[in-house]
Amino acid sequence: MPSDAIVTENLTKVYGKLTAVDHVNVKVASGTVFGLLGPNGAGKTTMIKLLTGLADMTEGEAWVAGFDVRRDPMHVKQRIGWVASEVILDDDFTAWENLWLQAKLQSLPEWKERAGDLLTYFGLNDRRKDRVKTFSTGMRKKLEIALALLHQPEVVFMDEPTIGLDANTRRMLWDLITGVNKEFGITVLLTSHYIEEADALCQQISIIDHGKIVASGSPSALKARVESDFVELETGEAVDEAKLRSIPGVTEVRSQGKTWILQVSAAEEVLPHIFSTLKTDEIRRINVEKPSLETVFLDITGKRIDQAGADVPDYRKFYATMRRARR
Ligand SMILES: Nc1ncnc2c1ncn2[C@@H]1O[C@H](COP(=O)(O)OP(=O)(O)OP(=O)(O)O)[C@@H](O)[C@H]1O
Ligand SMILES: [Mg+2]
Repeated sequence: MPSDAIVTENLTKVYGKLTAVDHVNVKVASGTVFGLLGPNGAGKTTMIKLLTGLADMTEGEAWVAGFDVRRDPMHVKQRIGWVASEVILDDDFTAWENLWLQAKLQSLPEWKERAGDLLTYFGLNDRRKDRVKTFSTGMRKKLEIALALLHQPEVVFMDEPTIGLDANTRRMLWDLITGVNKEFGITVLLTSHYIEEADALCQQISIIDHGKIVASGSPSALKARVESDFVELETGEAVDEAKLRSIPGVTEVRSQGKTWILQVSAAEEVLPHIFSTLKTDEIRRINVEKPSLETVFLDITGKRIDQAGADVPDYRKFYATMRRARR
């Protein structure tokens, strides 16, 4: 039985002709925050569904909290919590009633003391009798995390926990996630397509694209992999790729829509050559990027993480519409 909190071996999920998760191998050490970073449609939610037993794996193996997900699903479920990217709270119930419902769903005999402690920890104790429909987005998120922690899980899965939140609420949530990990000693697997989020929160990251893990490591080790700088260039339509390739110091040229992405040895040396090769009116926008997790993704896939999944339908809009309809 592995001592890591999460281990997968060749974990695979096939939907019809599509391989959503493709022979994934990850190891998440107990007590750490692990980030699964990838664009829309990369397979992040499917990974969580496989690890939590919400979907059956097509191939491979997985262990969570020391138990085999396929052979011991109940033992796994008792030890995990899940914070979904969609809203799961019942708006017409109070905070306390939502906790009560969660306790009933999980058949928890002793839950009131823990629920009270969690409300205090998340600063919601004085709102325990208020209906959730009166809560701010940040308060809802806190309550969602409290629900996930009620049965004292060892591992918590958070699927894009900060999606759609404003910058302040997102920062607040980052502190909470760190707190859940440090103060409760819980292993957290979070998915994100916000690079800076994974960088700030996670000790280890795997980058997933089209169901495959394309890179893994600590944020600093991943950043150290990429020695090049990147220059992002938006030009008039007439610019010839060969012309860009001929610029001294440019090692790779890729295009994404109307934007060119140039991999360069050192941006400060190459920029003057770019300006002398292209006419000023050919350049609409220019942006320099030093090594970061974003450039790791660019280096491996040739795409930006926030645009890589642009062809995938955006279910978030669908969920947002559903939420509005429920109110
Ligand atoms: N139940 C399903 N049936 C068929 N295809 C599915 C199903 N669930 C997911 N997929 C497909 O599997 C791929 C991975 O989806 P998944 O939801 O895991 O991506 P994701 O990384 O979570 O994306 P996002 O950032 O948009 O949430 C997508 O192409 C998706 O359309
Ligand atoms: Mg998802």
